[in-house]
Amino acid sequence: MKSLYYESAKQIVKGKAYFTDDLPPFHRELKAYIITSPVAHGRLKSFDFSAALEIAGVVKILSHKDIPAEKKFGVTTHDQPILVSDEINYYGEPMFLVIAENYEIAYQAAKLVKYELEELEPVVTIEQAIAKDWSLAPSKKLENGNIEQGFKQSDHIIEGIFHIGGQEHWYLETHVAIAVPGEEKEMKIYTSTQNPSENQRLVAEMLGIPYNEVEVEARRLGGAFGGKESQASHYALLAALGAYHTGRPVRLRLERFQDELITGKRHAYLCRYKVGFDNEGHLLAADLEFNGNAGAYTDLSLPILERTMFHAENAYYIPNIRIIGTMWRTNLPPNTAFRGFGGPQGIANIENIINEIAYTLHKDPAEIRKINFYDNQHSQTPYGQEVEHNRLSILYDLAMEKSDYKKHRSEILKFNKAHKFVKRGLALIPIKFGISFTNSILNQAGALVLVYTDGTVLVNHGGIEMGQGLYTKMQGIAAKEFGISPENVKVTATNTSKVPNTVATAASTGSDLNGMAVYDAIEKIKLRMAVALSKYFNEQDSSHTTYPPDLVFENNYIYDGSLPERRISFADAAQLMFVKQVSLSATGYYHTPGIYMDWQTGKGHPFYYYSFGMGVVEVELDLLTGKVKLLRADLLHDVGDSLNPEIDRGQIEGAFVQGMGWTLLEDLRYTDDGKLLNRSPDTYKIPAITDIPEQINVHLLEGYPNEIPTIHRSKAIGEPPFMYGIAPWLAVKDIIAELYDYKNIPNIELPATNDRILLWIDEAMNK
Ligand code: MTE
Ligand code: HPA
Ligand code: MOS
Repeated sequence: MKSLYYESAKQIVKGKAYFTDDLPPFHRELKAYIITSPVAHGRLKSFDFSAALEIAGVVKILSHKDIPAEKKFGVTTHDQPILVSDEINYYGEPMFLVIAENYEIAYQAAKLVKYELEELEPVVTIEQAIAKDWSLAPSKKLENGNIEQGFKQSDHIIEGIFHIGGQEHWYLETHVAIAVPGEEKEMKIYTSTQNPSENQRLVAEMLGIPYNEVEVEARRLGGAFGGKESQASHYALLAALGAYHTGRPVRLRLERFQDELITGKRHAYLCRYKVGFDNEGHLLAADLEFNGNAGAYTDLSLPILERTMFHAENAYYIPNIRIIGTMWRTNLPPNTAFRGFGGPQGIANIENIINEIAYTLHKDPAEIRKINFYDNQHSQTPYGQEVEHNRLSILYDLAMEKSDYKKHRSEILKFNKAHKFVKRGLALIPIKFGISFTNSILNQAGALVLVYTDGTVLVNHGGIEMGQGLYTKMQGIAAKEFGISPENVKVTATNTSKVPNTVATAASTGSDLNGMAVYDAIEKIKLRMAVALSKYFNEQDSSHTTYPPDLVFENNYIYDGSLPERRISFADAAQLMFVKQVSLSATGYYHTPGIYMDWQTGKGHPFYYYSFGMGVVEVELDLLTGKVKLLRADLLHDVGDSLNPEIDRGQIEGAFVQGMGWTLLEDLRYTDDGKLLNRSPDTYKIPAITDIPEQINVHLLEGYPNEIPTIHRSKAIGEPPFMYGIAPWLAVKDIIAELYDYKNIPNIELPATNDRILLWIDEAMNK
């Protein structure tokens, strides 16, 4: 299929695309600046704004006392204060909001705000939270088979601890919202959010006004990656609070330094494991425990934990398994959604275990992976869903072939014998990622499609464009279904007054859900057009009867399939519909069928389908500097029938590099009292062009449409390829394990950063 160009590529390249902060200033617009907490845990005792208010140009300074109705927010549990009222729970927590004529004045005034705090002892690490029993909610469990029996049958049992670090989203566009007050209670908000409807609800609840007074709009986001799924609402709330109190538009845009300070990250985890396996490496029993660092408030931590647990076995059938998960409260910013939504941590843990098994048995880890894959006889997941339409073995064979795995592996063995200070490693990683929101209700979407009398089409839907290409995919679907040129289809800003009650664009479901909703709306319009046009054709000439189902929409024409001379251009047909008084607009709706999960029994069918992939990555490690270089990556990915192969390739490459940043480069460092130290790119290392492998070969699995009905038989793409980023970490671990002769290897953490690698090498050399 031909790939449409990214719909706003030209405007973006020319610098003419409007991101939220590019909207020209509104009449009498003010700016807001957040004063944040200088301690991770404490109490706000008193505050005094008098000196700050004397500065010319300061319009208002707001505290929790100025919030008219609901003072807290959250996704399901409203436990996060919009502004601190009493207890401070993280370093960087918003306490007050300064509203001024410009940012400079607001910033100057902020320095004059006085307050008194009482400091309390912070809890920063998971270990500390466990010691204090600060769990966010009761632990969750998934179980299948009988692990005790499984361990009895095992030839080998290994146990261990695995530390996984967090990750900063580093979207290029930091959080931003503009609130514009309207007549009476009306409030319009332009914001960079993945979830406009949630912003709408929360703003209405904070102000004590009905939902129909609040309109939220988002045209495009400069990246989100989950960081704007729940957390963008905080800035919409603060901007709206400012607008409410001043009666003037208020803009709030975070600087990078503040964005990194205030916002939550990917969850760090402490995992414990005990696994049993036979002499060939078949997994027989696994006892897995996940402890996540939730930060100060609930946010999305509980569904994130669920997704970790749903991915704890990745692509492997484990007959006897027990998975226990707990989220722990700490005095850090509330951690949140980040590409993969907990899945990457579950997958990294089991992949680490597979390498340990391979070291115990002196086998190639890829062999251990392959013999444990789900197959037709072994297809039941720990939560009872069958792995259907399994593409793992097809992908494995193709990955072996495309990457020339065997040859590379033997060359690497030779290379490593010949080189003392430079070593190479090769790792394969399978992906099986569940597609659907883990909270089944959220799997729904709506659309509004309008056809104008010149034959052009305007598409609205509930999804957010954050760079992933959703709008382009929707444009492609509308053009194909109407049989018109893509240039005649425009997808416009997502807005709560066009499509109501939408869900976050997340869980990689944006195109699956909205694509079906757009399709549904188009079907309705086409049916009306077909009925009216058939009647019109038959009236014009009664020698042949056209029935509505005979009409074909193709190449900008609508014609009778059995009498193609009977035709009318799409534009003329649209004009004719006006004359014939036929409606040319429709709403569409979709919900994913047949998915559910029962946490009482730990069984269900939480995913509509699985996305599969197989990656092979080769790395080189310089033992003297600890520097890792990625040499080559072969990524074989299953996207069903792709909606847009070029966009999908972009998603695969981008997700892989972002994943590699998490496993090898990015390292959030906190002080003992909970202050994040690295808050800019000089100390927080995101991948740069030099970190990308010299060769990335992306192969889309062709000829395998999705077996279950999805839009044009495609598959979701946004998150699954993030997991490829775990492969270079596995390859590095292999190299280090070899230095230790595969015995008494230290705990190799994730991320394996340059400095940590040096310490592990140093220890090995000095043994
Ligand atoms: N790609 C870009 N360029 N920017 C983003 O913010 N977010 C990712 C992924 N790809 C993201 C991205 C995440 S976390 C998700 S869940 C999906 O896109 C969401 O979009 P989709 O459901 O339309 O794939
Ligand atoms: N993914 C992303 N966001 C979500 C999910 C999910 O599975 N569940 C609830 N919000
Ligand atoms: Mo993506 S983490 O589901 O926004």
